[in-house]
Amino acid sequence: MTTRLVCPGSFDPVTMGHLDVIRRAAVLADEVVVAVLHNPAKAGAFPVSDRIAFIEQATADLPGVRAAAYAGRLIVDVCRELDATALLKGLRSESDYAYEVPMAQMNRALTGIETVFLQGDPALAHVSSSLVKEVAGLGGDVSGMVPDAVRDALLARRPRRD
Ligand code: PNS
Repeated sequence: MTTRLVCPGSFDPVTMGHLDVIRRAAVLADEVVVAVLHNPAKAGAFPVSDRIAFIEQATADLPGVRAAAYAGRLIVDVCRELDATALLKGLRSESDYAYEVPMAQMNRALTGIETVFLQGDPALAHVSSSLVKEVAGLGGDVSGMVPDAVRDALLARRPRRD
């Protein structure tokens, strides 16, 4: 039986924290599908096609990992379509736990799909897509928090100040 984990998120943009969880999951499962979904509660910084390209580039050495867009879909329907074994999420903190558990319970109530959680690398506990965007947008150095291509794209988005 093929074990297939579906890792959903906005990935706007992908961070080293996401990539650490994806890499560790790739050892545990035959396939990891990174499902890029639009979260209506969050304004998007990067187009979904760019988010996917960043993930593909950063996971090119992992043959079992792929990324795809699933806009406007329930994640449980995506899991059914992909014949997923389980959902995959990373947890950095108690606030992540409080955010993720209701979604995991809702998804399990809808179709019985389980969610497996990997604890985030403590060295990356401060890294989130939203903070990285804020810091980079104000000129801070986010090297090592996101892939270099993402850092460069964040720098290119900065408004000119002249
Ligand atoms: O990275 P995010 O923004 O925290 O990810 C949230 C996401 C995209 C995983 C969540 O909003 C989601 O699963 N959206 C798909 C639609 C859906 O199934 N909603 C019900 C979730 S219980």
